[in-house]
Amino acid sequence: MFYAQNNFLEFARTLASGAGELIRERLYAHKDLKIKTKSSPTDLVTEIDREVEEWIAERIKETYPEHGMLGEEGTEREGSSAGGSIYRWIVDPIDGTTNFIHQRINFCISIALYHGDEGVVGVVYDPIRNEMFWASRGEGAFLNGEKLDIREKKELMESLVGTNLIWLRRTRKLGLLDHVYTIARRSRGIRALGAAALEMAYVAAGRIDAFLSLKLSPWDFAAAKLLVEEAGGVVRSFTGDAVPIAPPEHGLIAARTSLLPELMDILNEERTSDVAANDKETH
Ligand code: IPD
Ligand code: CA
Ligand code: CA
Repeated sequence: MFYAQNNFLEFARTLASGAGELIRERLYAHKDLKIKTKSSPTDLVTEIDREVEEWIAERIKETYPEHGMLGEEGTEREGSSAGGSIYRWIVDPIDGTTNFIHQRINFCISIALYHGDEGVVGVVYDPIRNEMFWASRGEGAFLNGEKLDIREKKELMESLVGTNLIWLRRTRKLGLLDHVYTIARRSRGIRALGAAALEMAYVAAGRIDAFLSLKLSPWDFAAAKLLVEEAGGVVRSFTGDAVPIAPPEHGLIAARTSLLPELMDILNEERTSDVAANDKETH
């Protein structure tokens, strides 16, 4: 492994574990969480999301002042290129904020470093279960030191699929609801955890075999995309194309490679939209 890449990985893991400690401290201080909404009544944020992002951003700036950063809670730093592409950290301080607020479990910190469009390192850390998933380009993916490998072939009928597509308005708008039911019927079942980065890390770990989502931002999937790819899986759009790491939002399938053709066949069957223009749904 390149010396610099190794340093980036160590740094990302230290950041994730420090951020995890901060979150646990704040969570166990038994103060009421201050909750605000962002783009919609179901898009929540707490003061801890913001504090953790600031904490991470400061450390990145101190250690790699020439690097850029993109954080969900508003951090946007350009970074400077030294001849080639810019290094950019892509951070979600808490992915699964609704779980964080309601369940105090099933959320994670997601930290990735990209060089241009290419993932260099990615860390997804669940601070409650103390599970750290990490990947480094060309060096594999790991969970707490154990190498992850999802190359083994599986059929859809022996697979578990993660998705929140069933209740999203956008799913119906795109005429995809029947397709999701088809996936449920042809697989061992559907699971919805509510933290995309963690669900994709679970694909890398083989806990679920595929994960489908329609509207993810770069900070939701930057780190976990590298995890899935380094574990031997694929991350593609619903039409099978590469998923860009540029904002704003993307639909994606993260899966064992052997499942991609069948999932895509199902998703690309004929579609009919059934959303009324004036419905008042929150998702
Ligand atoms: C959200 C979660 C959720 C996904 C949303 C994301 P947040 O991130 O990952 O599972 O369905 O699209 O925005 O707001 O909890 O960081
Ligand atoms: Ca997120
Ligand atoms: Ca978040």
